[in-house]
Amino acid sequence: MTYPHVQYLREAELKHGRLAMLAFVGILVQSVTHIPGYPSETNWLNALNAAYADKNASLGVVQISIFAMIVEGKFYPHDGWCGQMDREPGDLGFDPLGFTKKPGFDMKTAQLKELKNGRLAMIAFAAFLASANMPGSVPGLGASALRRDSAVASSSALCGKTLAVAQPQAEASKTAARYTTQVILPSLAWIRTGLKAAGLKPCELKAVTLAGNDILIGKTEAGKLFGVGNLCPHIGTPMSEGADVIGDVIVCPLHGSSFKVTTGELLDWCVSPPIIGPLTGLLIEKKNLLIFEVRESGIFGGGDIEVLVDTNAKKAYEADYWKGLLDAQGKDDGSFY
Ligand code: FES
Repeated sequence: MTYPHVQYLREAELKHGRLAMLAFVGILVQSVTHIPGYPSETNWLNALNAAYADKNASLGVVQISIFAMIVEGKFYPHDGWCGQMDREPGDLGFDPLGFTKKPGFDMKTAQLKELKNGRLAMIAFAAFLASANMPGSVPGLGASALRRDSAVASSSALCGKTLAVAQPQAEASKTAARYTTQVILPSLAWIRTGLKAAGLKPCELKAVTLAGNDILIGKTEAGKLFGVGNLCPHIGTPMSEGADVIGDVIVCPLHGSSFKVTTGELLDWCVSPPIIGPLTGLLIEKKNLLIFEVRESGIFGGGDIEVLVDTNAKKAYEADYWKGLLDAQGKDDGSFY
């Protein structure tokens, strides 16, 4: 006899088909609606991470996982490998509404329907996956592609020493630029940086640009991951150009302003060089440093570092700019940039 036996293969096919049918429905449903009180994530590839980021939803995922383990343990078809199963492949005896007991129920036809729908769902799921990873590879599914807006920007610094970072190629876009003067509301999303936490040493800094936000990813001396704005709130010097991390404090390389990386709190404002630094500090209002939430992707972490960013930040900034220009031509509401 050739192993695995067809019983085992049919059991596997049915299981994959059922999972694919659930996945297909799940992908469609969660992209248009969500259960109130639970996290919302329209990108299905990020949905599990969004669930793990929420305490209640992550407990739900744990419950589902435990339930799946129990079912798998009870119904695992180990005897099917050599054709010795004591049940029909796929028959778990689950029929709470008694469909199979109804008069005229044709079991063979129902089994065939399930098999065909399962196969179709597996193909559909594979298409979603291909489209997400290779945008445009599946006709009609271009919009479902996962956006990996992870342009790793210019430079990095290790305790003040600037290091070179590979610059990813910008993707060619055929989308024409559009401008608006409307009020743009924030739209927060977790975006992958393409960096791994394990690749960062304590005190090391790397600059990334995500959805138009200049962000500095780094680790404190104790090795805690953080994300802050890369531009110093004094006059916009890029912190990546030689900032020092001391403990959980980051020090601007130009005039020595220092901020807590965990809260962004300003500790010292323009302290160097003597006289000139404090004088330049008088010209600009004191501000805290912008901070960003960071996390590691993957069910158990260890994946890319992700940052929670406002994907509308650039559009909102530009809206004010265009409002100012249009107002000069008498086309807007009189406010100015
Ligand atoms: S530019 Fe950073 S303190 Fe002056």
